[in-house]
Amino acid sequence: MKLLVLNGSPKCDRSNTIRIAKAFTEGFPEDTTVKRIDLYEKNIMPCRGCFSCWKSESGKCVINDDMAGIISAIKEADVIIQSYPLYFYGMPSQMKAMTDRCLQLVMPYMGDKSDSDTTFNELRDPSMWEKKLVLISSCGYVETEPVYPALLAQYDLICGKGNYTAILCPEGEIFVTGKAKRQQDVYLESIRAAGAEYASNFSLSDETFRKISIPMLSPLSFSTITKAHWKEGRWTERDRES
Ligand SMILES: Cc1cc2nc3c(=O)[nH]c(=O)nc-3n(C[C@H](O)[C@H](O)[C@H](O)COP(=O)(O)O)c2cc1C
Repeated sequence: MKLLVLNGSPKCDRSNTIRIAKAFTEGFPEDTTVKRIDLYEKNIMPCRGCFSCWKSESGKCVINDDMAGIISAIKEADVIIQSYPLYFYGMPSQMKAMTDRCLQLVMPYMGDKSDSDTTFNELRDPSMWEKKLVLISSCGYVETEPVYPALLAQYDLICGKGNYTAILCPEGEIFVTGKAKRQQDVYLESIRAAGAEYASNFSLSDETFRKISIPMLSPLSFSTITKAHWKEGRWTERDRES
């Protein structure tokens, strides 16, 4: 099985989220190949909106940058894992730039009204539907329910409900503080087990979702650690001037 991890955190290797994605892939069988692309290390120009890809038979994009390599990697992968932090209730900018440039993978919109739950266009290559998509995202908030609805609605519209798997981690900044190491290890172990389960049937049970949605720390512990963390790194007047 070929996994492609698209890392959409500007922190690249230091990303909280990539630690979760890494644990998830570790759960896959040994003969799995894992390719990771750090999107912020790549030159991905914004879509120009010229629709050249829709006007050509090949669907080729006119922009000459690293996106062609990313499209090839997407085409080669069996499972695509998008790993990124929640930014203002959505995806970080480089991830959005990459998503917009995927316009070349879909057919032109011909003005018809859709009767399915997604208004999204047909894929140029229908066999792409066989690929599996996993979203792994961490956020700073103490729970995921209040902060992810907009992003999940976007995925529902693009992929159709139930056509992707979302692993959402609250209290993501705990990884930065280095505190509560035992709880971090327990959480990552549950994610590893989730990876093994996903590898066997491309889905996760309700019980697994429940396990990996439980915050690593109680709201009180999380808030105590978070306050101490920001206080340690607080701006002084001198920091502001320099
Ligand atoms: C620009 C910016 C916007 C953010 N917006 C949100 C947000 O809307 N909701 C939230 O819970 N956390 C938000 N966060 C916190 C990150 O999602 C969180 O720190 C995450 O764990 C970082 O993951 P990473 O290390 O993989 O980049 C934001 C962080 C930044 C830098």
